[in-house]
Amino acid sequence: MKRLHLSILPALLLLGCADTKNKNTTTTEHNSIKKTTVSEKKTKTRKYFTECKSKMAFIREPKGLSNDEIDIFILGKSFFRIPWVEAPSATTARDGLGPLFNANTCMHCHPGNGAGVAVNKDGSMTRSLLLRLSHKEPKDAALIKKIGFEPDSTYGAQLSKNGNHDVVAEGEPVVKYENIEGEYPDGTAYTLRKPTYSVINKGYGAFDEDTILAPRIGSALIGLGQLELISEKDILAHQDIEDKDGDGISGKANYAFDPETNSTKLGRFTWKASATTVKHQTAGAAHNDMGLTNPLFPMHNCTKKQENCLKEAEKGRFEFELPAQRLDAIDYYLSNLAIPKQRDPEKYTEGAKLFKSLSCTACHVERYKTASGITIKPYSDLLLHDMGEALADGRSEFLASGSEWRTPPMWGIGLYKKVSGEANYLHDGRARNIEEAILWHGGEAEQSKKDFMALDKISRQKVLDFLKSI
Ligand code: HEC
Ligand code: HEC
Repeated sequence: MKRLHLSILPALLLLGCADTKNKNTTTTEHNSIKKTTVSEKKTKTRKYFTECKSKMAFIREPKGLSNDEIDIFILGKSFFRIPWVEAPSATTARDGLGPLFNANTCMHCHPGNGAGVAVNKDGSMTRSLLLRLSHKEPKDAALIKKIGFEPDSTYGAQLSKNGNHDVVAEGEPVVKYENIEGEYPDGTAYTLRKPTYSVINKGYGAFDEDTILAPRIGSALIGLGQLELISEKDILAHQDIEDKDGDGISGKANYAFDPETNSTKLGRFTWKASATTVKHQTAGAAHNDMGLTNPLFPMHNCTKKQENCLKEAEKGRFEFELPAQRLDAIDYYLSNLAIPKQRDPEKYTEGAKLFKSLSCTACHVERYKTASGITIKPYSDLLLHDMGEALADGRSEFLASGSEWRTPPMWGIGLYKKVSGEANYLHDGRARNIEEAILWHGGEAEQSKKDFMALDKISRQKVLDFLKSI
């Protein structure tokens, strides 16, 4: 990497926190990305925590990467950020978008590597809030084992908003919000927005009769490599499927099929913990969200009924539109993003105590020691919990039922607005702030929410301020 010249440093610092310079990827592609084994891609000697709290907070590399590693990091970052184009084109390094797709760059749905925003100013759904499609009661055991659900027979696993050339887009997703008024026991009023989803301008006729719409918003992408490094034993230690301790909170691991190893493994990523590794999810995103074939998902995302899509797919010139080396580079980049440190922890000790006393930490488990010996604080058990009817989407994914969700990691949640421009929480971004996210909790978290609501106003604010600081 080119070292930054000292004289330009002050200017970069003014902007916030300096970012690694982008290189021209197509000409400097590294020829020998090492196999990104755990020990090679994340080691103890690196400093994974950053003081950065500006809108650049989620795009920082850790300190301690070698020059070669910085090259791979920058390469991965470029492929995460570049807009892909349709094949064939003059820019061979990044063509192959589509035939059906939702966005042309990963970054569109993960702005600044942060969480997605649910709706545009005019109320239309953004691209980062997408609709998954699946049968309510899946029966095909082989499919359930391999992909975790049964897709719509015409539209496939996800509604694509866009199509190349004469490939008709699949439809336009629509969200309508209804205000729900509520009150805390102390009389303070609140309003939640309850979403309903539909699809207009369907390009290929009706959905299957039992197809349901399952909204998902893009997640923040910091610290993913560290989550991969939590030992299985430490995750399973929090499992309590039968709720033997009687605290009303069970927690269940999801097990998903990993196409890289052709085996079923512990799921750690996505809102239903249906992806086993960062690489698995990266390859799945390339396939489902952008239409890029890759070693883990070699087929185009057209169903047998979408003839134009299949025809258009033949125009691709390469075995894989996202070949192994580039997939590995994105994996490396996302696995190594630095994690912002808590801001002024000494100011929020009371809020932290309340957070614990409300049993939030029964699911939002504060800390782990990873396989590389680092202590991390993701505030998640990575397990599934039944969160009640109001949050349920009816879609099962591997072992996750229609009302179960993975506890999302919460490091950085106080920076979402800075990073993405808007802060939306929960699996479909329905919550406009952290307080609303808590008020939606139900099911296994019902008691915890009630205890939060029963606090006086000042104590509630302490909990919220603590969460904004982590
Ligand atoms: C069209 C929007 C969209 C695009 C484009 C997109 N993503 Fe995502 N991403 C999402 C959504 C939605 C989720 C949540 C999926 C779920 O929970 O099932 C997600 C989740 C993820 C996660 C899991 C994070 C976690 O903690 O669970 C990773 C990793 C990820 N995306 C990487 C990528 C990469 C790499 C690309 C580009 C190849 C990409 N995404 C492109 C929308 C998008
Ligand atoms: C039974 C487990 C459980 C308990 C207890 C629990 N949560 Fe959660 N929390 C979850 C799950 C699961 C989600 C994701 C739900 C969804 O997206 O639909 C979540 C989401 C959140 C979010 C939104 C995070 C994001 O990235 O969108 C916040 C904030 C939050 N919880 C705070 C709290 C607080 C504060 C408490 C204690 C009052 C608490 N939680 C108790 C499981 C739990």
